Amino acid sequence: MGFTDQHKKIERNVTLLGVGAFIAVAIGGIVEIAPLFWIDGTIEKVEGMRPYTPLEQAGRDIYVREGCYTCHSQMIRPFRDEVERYGHYSLAAESMYDHPFQWGSKRTGPDLARVGNRYSDEWHVQHLIAPRSVVPESVMPTYAFLAETDLDTAQASAKLRALSRVGVPYSETDIQRAQADLKAQADPEADAGDLATRYPKAQIRDFDGDPTRLTEMDAIVAYLQMLGTLVDVNSAAAQAELANETGR
Ligand code: HEC
Repeated sequence: MGFTDQHKKIERNVTLLGVGAFIAVAIGGIVEIAPLFWIDGTIEKVEGMRPYTPLEQAGRDIYVREGCYTCHSQMIRPFRDEVERYGHYSLAAESMYDHPFQWGSKRTGPDLARVGNRYSDEWHVQHLIAPRSVVPESVMPTYAFLAETDLDTAQASAKLRALSRVGVPYSETDIQRAQADLKAQADPEADAGDLATRYPKAQIRDFDGDPTRLTEMDAIVAYLQMLGTLVDVNSAAAQAELANETGR
C-alpha cells in the first residue's frame, strides 16, 4: 500500500483526522508559546521608560475617549520612509505601560509616537481648537471644547491604582499623591515636590495658555508633548539594548 492509500485512511476517518489535526496544531502552538516561559521578559527594558505622570495619563484617557486613535497611529515601523519622516522606529518598551496600547491601524493623520517636543504648546492648543487655522488642508475635527472643559481630577489615584494592578510599577507614594501631582504638573506656581524625581523628564508648566484653570487641554497637550521623549533612542545605552535584542 502506497503512502497516498494510507493517507486515505486518515481522510475517511473523522476521528483520526481530528486527532491528527490536533497534534499538528499543538506542535505549532508549543513551538510558539513554550519559549515564552523560559525567557525572563518578552519586552526588553530600555533606559528612560517610566510610567506616565497622572496628568499625562489623564491626557491619554482623553485621547482614547475622543478616538484620536481612529486617525493616528503610535507605532513607527522599522522602514526607511517611516524612520525618515517620524524618527527612530518604536521600541517595544516604549508602549510597555500602555493599557490599552495605541499602536493603531489607521493613519488618516500622521503617526504621533514621537510628536513630543516637535511643536510648541501654543501650536498644539491652536491646532486642537481649529486645525485648519494652522494646516489649511487638514481634515482633523475641532476639539475646542477641551480648552473649555475643566479636568476631572477626582479619579486620579484610582486610575493609578487600577494601572498598578495590571503591572504598571506605580509606588504607593505615586498613588497617594496622584491628585496633587496632577495639579502641580500643570501649575508652575505650585510646589511640585519630588514629582520630577519620581517621574524623570516630566515637563512641568501650564500647557493650555490659561494658568488660572486646569482643563482637559492641559492634560492632552502634556500627553502629546511627552510622546516619544522618554527614551533617548540614540543614546549608547539604548543602542546597546538594541544590539542585544537583535543579537538573540
Ligand atoms: C478624522 C481624523 C482625525 C482625528 C479623529 C484626529 N486627527 Fe489629528 N490629524 C489628522 C490629520 C489629517 C492631520 C494632519 C493635518 C494636520 O496637521 O491637521 C492630523 C494632525 C495631528 C497632529 C499633528 C501631527 C504632526 O506631526 O504634524 C496632532 C498632534 C494631532 N493630529 C493630534 C490629534 C489628537 C490629540 C486627536 C484627538 C483629540 C486627533 N488628532 C484626532 C486627522 C485626525
